[in-house]
Amino acid sequence: MILLKIKHLSKTYSEKNLFSRSRKAEKKVVRSVSLDVLQGEILALVGESGSGKTTLARAVLRLVEPSSGEIIYRGKDLLRLNRKQFRPYRRHFQMIFQHPDRAFDPRQTVAAVLSEAIKMNRNLGKEDRTVRTREMLELVHLHENYLTRYPHELSGGEQQRLLVARALAVTPEFLIADEPTSSLDAVVKQDILNLLINLKEKLGLTLLFISHDLGAVHRVADRIAVMYKGRIIELGSRSDIYGEARHPYTKMLLHSIHFRKNKTSAVTEEHLSFPETDSSCDFAPRCQEATEYCRHKIPLFKQMSPGHRAACHFFQQETAEQPAAVAAGM
Ligand SMILES: Nc1ncnc2c1ncn2[C@@H]1O[C@H](COP(=O)(O)OP(=O)(O)OP(=O)(O)O)[C@@H](O)[C@H]1O
Ligand SMILES: [Mg+2]
Repeated sequence: MILLKIKHLSKTYSEKNLFSRSRKAEKKVVRSVSLDVLQGEILALVGESGSGKTTLARAVLRLVEPSSGEIIYRGKDLLRLNRKQFRPYRRHFQMIFQHPDRAFDPRQTVAAVLSEAIKMNRNLGKEDRTVRTREMLELVHLHENYLTRYPHELSGGEQQRLLVARALAVTPEFLIADEPTSSLDAVVKQDILNLLINLKEKLGLTLLFISHDLGAVHRVADRIAVMYKGRIIELGSRSDIYGEARHPYTKMLLHSIHFRKNKTSAVTEEHLSFPETDSSCDFAPRCQEATEYCRHKIPLFKQMSPGHRAACHFFQQETAEQPAAVAAGM
C-alpha cells in the first residue's frame, strides 16, 4: 500500500547575481521527482553531497515550499492545503535532522525536550506526560537517569537516540532520518541502525533514510532511490541496486573507491553544478560510456524489471524510443 505519493515535485531557488541586480539565476535543486513511499518500508535516498536529498525531504514536509508538484497522502494533495489545513497532517510526519548537536535547546533537560514534544501531540495531564516521557526513553534504550541531563552531557549516539525519541513522541506514521549516523563511530552507528529497524518493526513506522553511507543503506533499506542533480535516476529493491545496478552513476557510487583512484573521473565544478536546461543526460559529462546521443537527449526513467527503474539510454535500446546513436554504438 502506498503511504505517500510524490508526483513531479520540484523546488527551484533563485540566486542573486552578484554582478547584476536585475538578473537572478534560477537553480533547480529538486527536478520533477516522482516517488511512491510504501507503508511500513525503509526507503533509502542516496546520492552525493549537494544532489538535493535534504531539499527533497524538506519539501515533502513543506519545511520549504515546493515550486510545483503534488504530494498525495490519504487521497489528499497536501500541497493544495493552506498552512492551517495542513497543520493536523503535519504531526504524522517527523524528521530527524543532520547534526544532532545543533538540534536541541541547550537550556532544556532531556525530560523537558521530550515533555514538550509529547505536549504538542496530546492533551495529557502532568502525570501521564511523565509516564510517556519514560516510555519514550525506554523505546530508544536510554536509562531514566538521563532525564535530568542536558543535551551537551550526552554522547553523539545518545543525542541521536534522543532525537529519535523526540520525533516518535508525536506518534508519527512517517519518519525522515537525514544522515542519522554520519557523525557516529562504527559501533554506535550499528546501534542506531538496529534501533531504526526495530522501531520500524515494533511501531509499523515508514522511514525515509537519507545517507551517503552505502554500508548503512545496505543494512537497513528495503528499497533504494538514487538521486543525481535533483532527479531520481535509479530506483529498486536492495538486491536490484546492490546486485544489478544499471545506471553508471549508481555503479560509480558502489565502486567509489575504485573510481576515486581513476584520474579520468575526477570531479570538476561543471560536474557538480546543476544544469540550466533539460536537454541531455545529466550524468553524461562524467560518464565514461556517454555518447553524443546522451549529450543531446534526456533518458526516460524506464522499467528494467518489476520495481526496478533507471534513467540511462543504454538500457532503452529495445524500446520504441530506441536511440539510433546508441544502437549504432556512437
Ligand atoms: N535555501 C537555499 N537557497 C539556495 N540554494 C540552496 C538552499 N538550500 C539548499 N540549496 C542548494 O541546493 C543544493 C542541494 O542541497 P541539499 O542540502 O538538498 O543537498 P544534499 O543532497 O542534502 O547534500 P548533503 O549530502 O551534503 O547533505 C545545493 O547545491 C545547495 O547549495
Ligand atoms: Mg543533506
